[in-house]
Amino acid sequence: MHFQEILIKKRDGKALGRKEIQAFVHGYTLGTIPDYQASSFLMASFLNGLSIEETVWLTEAMLHSGTVVDLSEVRAAKVDKHSTGGVGDKTSLIIAPICAAVGVPVPMISGRGLGHTGGTLDKLEAIPGFNVNLGLDDYKKLVREIGCCLIGQTSEIAPADKRLYALRDVTCTVENKSLISASIMSKKLAEGIDALVLDVKTGSGAFMKSELEAEELARLMMSIGQKMGKRITSLITDMNQPLGSHVGNALEVIESVDILKGEAQPEQQDLLELSLLLAAHMIILGGKTENVEEAVEMAKQSINDGTAFLKLKEIVNEQGGDSSALDEPTRLPGADECHLVKAGKSGYIENLDALLIGKGSVYLGAGRITLDSPIDPGVGIIVRKKVGDSVKKGESVLEVRFNDELKLQDCLEYLDKAISIAEEPVPALQLVKKTITHLD
Ligand code: URA
Repeated sequence: MHFQEILIKKRDGKALGRKEIQAFVHGYTLGTIPDYQASSFLMASFLNGLSIEETVWLTEAMLHSGTVVDLSEVRAAKVDKHSTGGVGDKTSLIIAPICAAVGVPVPMISGRGLGHTGGTLDKLEAIPGFNVNLGLDDYKKLVREIGCCLIGQTSEIAPADKRLYALRDVTCTVENKSLISASIMSKKLAEGIDALVLDVKTGSGAFMKSELEAEELARLMMSIGQKMGKRITSLITDMNQPLGSHVGNALEVIESVDILKGEAQPEQQDLLELSLLLAAHMIILGGKTENVEEAVEMAKQSINDGTAFLKLKEIVNEQGGDSSALDEPTRLPGADECHLVKAGKSGYIENLDALLIGKGSVYLGAGRITLDSPIDPGVGIIVRKKVGDSVKKGESVLEVRFNDELKLQDCLEYLDKAISIAEEPVPALQLVKKTITHLD
């Protein structure tokens, strides 16, 4: 079968068969289909859509592009969490150690920055020495021995997603329910988990702009996961403004450490609240309790008694990282310069556009513009005010940490439009819109 024939079919809006989808995934993973043809396939799928059947076949083909890990040697229920992508969304760095500290093993395969959103792998790599490319044996050993391992897609596990994810990032083919579902579920189903919590974002900085689309995406992923025998809870959560206060790789590590040390600032309360809730749903799926309030208390306790932070340090050490950098943030990559974006008038923050702040941070160097763009782990944006906060004319709303003046100018083109201030009080944004624990 010539791949051009498959491309023509998809370009013309026709449905593909299972074998044709397998041929695409297999060929691209092996390198016999070049990037330019894969890009064309992705764009045709993005524009013409994939049916539910095509989405399931794509997920299956991507899942079986590598090993489906067997973690049955770990007796406890293994539970992971995945977010559909946000700005300042660093909950994985917080909840993985919390759950592992509470006794729920977390095998986690994450991604890099995607579009204007940040990625867990890029954040972890801001910690000197941290290795996200462990092999299968080390992955299993760490889940067994310390209850957590944080890696990326490898040549062994979810290799198709490793390549397609990077290509989608730079070909503007991210915001599509089928492509997102196949990407997320192929990784998650390969991990060896029993259950999963999905954090499906909605709002300006999310790939799903409306709550309805976010719910459709959640239900699509849940139906794929449930067919494979996984228990899944989805939370639909707000992504109209950045989550927490820090956006950028090393900055997000610093903020995660603050949260795990119990030192959350007022502008970080949404991050703390969501992290506790996501961890609580993982704890429930892990069988530790059936009650959300009790699970939240267990998560809080692991912060208060220091075990969650100690667990993060253990994970960092075991994965080759320098855990002392978590105690001394000056040892993490940084930025030489700081630019303040100030309020143009007094009033109340009405909008802090997550999409524009995310794009600004990518152009600053925190994300990729081409497949081989280098990341600058030290740059980013600190949010000093959140939606609903009062602000005085001239007060700082955003702090931009940068290393390159030209990149700062690119970034400011976005940030200058990101803030709006109202004269009348503005209510805070609703963080959690919906929780879905089972499909009808
Ligand atoms: N997270 C993923 O792993 N894949 C996507 O496509 C979007 C978010």
